[in-house]
Order: sequence, then C-alpha cells, then structure tokens
Amino acid sequence: MFASRQVLNACQRRAFSASARDLSKVTILGAAGGIGQPLSLLMKLNPRVTELALYDIRGGPGVAADISHINTKSTVTGYEPTASGLRDALKGAEVVLIPAGVPRKPGMTRDGMDSVTAEALTNQSTDLFNTNASIVRDLAKAAADASPNANILVISNPVNSTVPIVAEVFKSKGVYNPKRLFGVTTLDVVRASRFVSQIKNSDPADENVTVVGGHSGVTIVPLISQSGHKDITGDKLDTLVNRIQFGGDEVVKAKDGAGSATLSMAMAGARFAESLLKASQGVKNVVEPTFVESPLYKDQGVNFFASKVELSADGVEKIHSVGELTEHEQGLLDACLVDLKKNIEKGVQFVKDNP
Ligand code: NAD
Ligand code: LMR
Repeated sequence: MFASRQVLNACQRRAFSASARDLSKVTILGAAGGIGQPLSLLMKLNPRVTELALYDIRGGPGVAADISHINTKSTVTGYEPTASGLRDALKGAEVVLIPAGVPRKPGMTRDGMDSVTAEALTNQSTDLFNTNASIVRDLAKAAADASPNANILVISNPVNSTVPIVAEVFKSKGVYNPKRLFGVTTLDVVRASRFVSQIKNSDPADENVTVVGGHSGVTIVPLISQSGHKDITGDKLDTLVNRIQFGGDEVVKAKDGAGSATLSMAMAGARFAESLLKASQGVKNVVEPTFVESPLYKDQGVNFFASKVELSADGVEKIHSVGELTEHEQGLLDACLVDLKKNIEKGVQFVKDNP
C-alpha cells in the first residue's frame, strides 16, 4: 500500500516536472514607472517568483535595491540600458511584463485615434501612439532575441495595437508563438466587478464580470447578463457599461495631467501574472479574460480579441467563446469589432512602416 502510493507519487512528480516549471524568473520592462514600481513590489511579494529582473531606461537599479530588502525569497536585480542590460534582464525569463511607455493626458483616447477635434490634442495622441509603439517594438525585438519562449504580457497602451506590434516583431524574427502573447485587460475585469458591487452593495470578490473585446473605449465589452445581474437594465446598464468602458478616463481626469491608472493597474497586472505562473506551475482550470490572437472573429478581419482564456504551462490552452449575448451586448460587440479591426491594423501597419 505504502509502496504503491510512493510509486504513484513519483509518477505524479515526474508528470508535474515535465509540464511545469518551478523556477520562475519574472522580468519587468519599465519597472521604475508609475505602474512598474508597485507591480515590482507585488511580484516581489509573490512566492511563485524566484527571480525578479527590473529594467528601465532610468532608475531600474534603485527600484531593485529598495525592493530587494523585502524579506521574501526571490532575488532582485536592476538593469540599466547598457549594451547588455536589456538582454540580461530578459534572458531565461518565464514571464515578461511590459508597462514601459507614456501614459495619456486628459482629453486623449487610449487608442491614439482621437475623437476630439482640437488639432493640438490629435497631434499629441499621434505622438503618444508613435512613442509607445516604438518603445514596444524595440522591447519586443530584444525579447524575441533574448527570451523567445517567454510569456509576454503587454500593458503599454494602446493594447489593441501594441499586442499586434509584438506579434509582428516576433514573426519577423521567426519566433512568434501566439500561445505566449497576452494583452493585459485585467483592469477592465477588476473595475467591472468593483463597479457592479457598488451598485449591488455586494462584496466585489463575489462579482465575476466577463469583459471581452479590447482595451479602449467601445472595444471594452462587459457581459453583465452573464454576471448574474440580468436585473441591471436600461439607464442603469448604460451608465455601468459606460463607466467600465471609460473607467480609465476617471483616473486620467482626477490625476489632472499626472498620468493614468498605476496602482489599480499594478494590482491587475500582478493578478494576471499570478494566474499565468499558477498555470505554468501545474494548477488546472486557471481562466482569465485576456487579449490574444483569437479565432473567434478572424472571419471578420479581427485577429486579436479578449475573451476568457484557459491558461496552462504552454500559455494559452483554450480560448472560450463569448457565450450567449443579449441583443444589447450584441450591439456593443458589433461596435467593438469595427474599432478593434482598425486598432489592430494600425499596429500591424506601424511595424510595416517602421520595421
Ligand atoms: P510612467 O511614465 O509612469 O512609466 C513608464 C516607465 O517606462 C518609465 O519609468 C520610463 O522610464 C519607462 N520607459 C520608457 N521607455 C522605456 C524603454 N524603452 N524601455 C524600458 N522602460 C522604458 O507610465 P505608467 O503610468 O506606468 O504607464 C505605462 C503604460 O501603461 C502607458 O502606456 C499607459 O497608458 C499604460 N497603461 C495600461 C493599462 C492597461 O490596462 N493595459 C492601464 C494603465 C496604464
Ligand atoms: C486604463 O484603463 O486606466 C489605462 O488604459 C490607462 C488609460 O489611459 O486609461
């Protein structure tokens, strides 16, 4: 009896070590920024992380020295933009989180395709797009060379375009694996559960709201009907959906020129990274909504889409469909797909024009 249990355990151990990794290096690119610092802190507190590599064009070593005093087991190293700094930060990484880039200012939209008419603002938005697109492209080139098998988690906006940018760069270097590229849309899910709980006077921990589509304005599609709250209808529903879609604006406006969401984003990024680490360390049935290359709306020219995704040691294990929608949600989805297609094409075109 005892022997057979031992044999079984040995088999299980072998199966586990074949599919899961117990050494988890996490690299953060843009680690000294508004998101980067609290995200680095949260990853240092995560016992699944064994090595934390913090890279930024300025301030990486300072943040690393500070965080390295926290008494958890992982080692922390800061990297500077020297000849080998970025490469060394990336080498051997299992998870690469990218919050590098410029946050928007009041009046700008996230997708860089501004709807406000003021020419100055439109130019600023174009600059913001080009700046972040260039940063993400260059970091993707480095990741494709130094850590081609890592899970790449893109936070830098506009996510609807920066994720396709990373895909194009990886393709150009012959190392693209769609199962390992993720746009982090977790903040929309976090906001949705919080905002619903405020309406329902409930514990947000009990509110699970699926959010599909993309990560800007009308491309964010919360599926309230699937959250157990079919009674939220009419104006109440419109207000809730609008608040989730434009939640980022609330923060941008309140920060009044000093940036966008950083602390809530760090929490959301850490949650997604934890899910991925959990899945890669053998935990089953880990499901998170995330923006990935997806077959769901490819026939409509939309190659990337956020929906619930089951994660595993291989990254994307299974992409869930959006499920049953109300007529209202179908209308939101139709509007989403129109914008999303343009945002994705914009990212692809950027790499074509600026290889
Ligand atoms: P921030 O300006 O505070 O920090 C950005 C950091 O990136 C800075 O420390 C900067 O030095 C660094 N950086 C710039 N270029 C770099 C490069 N080439 N390599 C490495 N580091 C580089 O900005 P933030 O508030 O942290 O926001 C960062 C990005 O995240 C923005 O694009 C913002 O729009 C986006 N964002 C996304 C979400 C989301 O839900 N996905 C939420 C909030 C913010
Ligand atoms: C957010 O959702 O808060 C981020 O995308 C930042 C922004 O610019 O709104």
